[in-house]
Amino acid sequence: MVSGGETEELWKEVRQGLQRSPPTLPPKLFYDARGARLFEEIMRLEAYYPTRTEIEILRQHVDQMAERAGPDVLLLEPGSGSGEKTRLLLSALESPVAYVPVDVASVQLATFAQEVRRDHPSLEVLPVVADYTRSFPVPRPRREPRRSVAFFPGSTVGNLEPPAARAFLAHLAEETGPGGGLLIGVDLVKDPSMLEAAYNDPEGVTAEFNRNMLRHLNRILGADFDPAAFEHHAPWLEAEGRIEMRLVSRRDQRITFRPGLEDEPPFHLDLPRGRFLVTEHSNKYTLQGFRRLTEAAGWRTVETWTDPNEWFAVQFLERDP
Ligand code: TRP
Repeated sequence: MVSGGETEELWKEVRQGLQRSPPTLPPKLFYDARGARLFEEIMRLEAYYPTRTEIEILRQHVDQMAERAGPDVLLLEPGSGSGEKTRLLLSALESPVAYVPVDVASVQLATFAQEVRRDHPSLEVLPVVADYTRSFPVPRPRREPRRSVAFFPGSTVGNLEPPAARAFLAHLAEETGPGGGLLIGVDLVKDPSMLEAAYNDPEGVTAEFNRNMLRHLNRILGADFDPAAFEHHAPWLEAEGRIEMRLVSRRDQRITFRPGLEDEPPFHLDLPRGRFLVTEHSNKYTLQGFRRLTEAAGWRTVETWTDPNEWFAVQFLERDP
């Protein structure tokens, strides 16, 4: 349930995006309960190589990663925890002081924190309910950590536009403080057919995930989208170096929003056949391009691990002490 003030803010953001060309919707609207389930399903798809490739890299090299991090660290994870990946890392770290997951989704956060406490009884687990792209207070554990290390897997950095990614990485450098480290996963530029297959799976799960945003909008902002009137399309844009998630209008149509706010008349969006809405970007990097991005944000590349095909990379970075 969303409160009146939240609806108003969200509506402003959505309306602003819809007035851009092409009209754009905020990716956070993917994640209602059904969206979160579909996302989990995407991670297990045969065509979706990033998750299993990253997990394999972690399995192979987690001891070296833990060695880079060193003993007695505070592990900071933006996002409510990435399950198997977090577990692998926590088990390899030498006497970690605390685990601090940061997320707005307070229920998932609490659930994951409990699981980690059960598996690591001597570890202090200190979840923080906050938007991790903004500044948040890092709690002080009972035992003094030697340093803070952030963990940001899943190539989530690719879902930010490069300038926003740079700002976010600089913000992480602030949050980890002097001597801070960052273990980050990034999906690499590769054969376009493989990239496109990952986001256009034959099972249609990604399509359903994409269209689910329209149902979510119908529910929370009083829109009247017919999800079946939109086709999922996620092309690789070579010049921009990204996959773009689109919903293409199958016919000429008019969408009406009635967000239920006072003094707010219904809002109309006219979509001719073939016009598309953009729901998300997934930027891919070369190792060189990613180094430029992270260095611009104040990070130094210490070590890079990849799979034998160089589909995906995990890097350990350090900021200046
Ligand atoms: N960051 C991952 C990626 O871009 C996971 C992800 C985020 C994703 N949003 C998505 C995967 C939408 C598929 C569709 O691949």
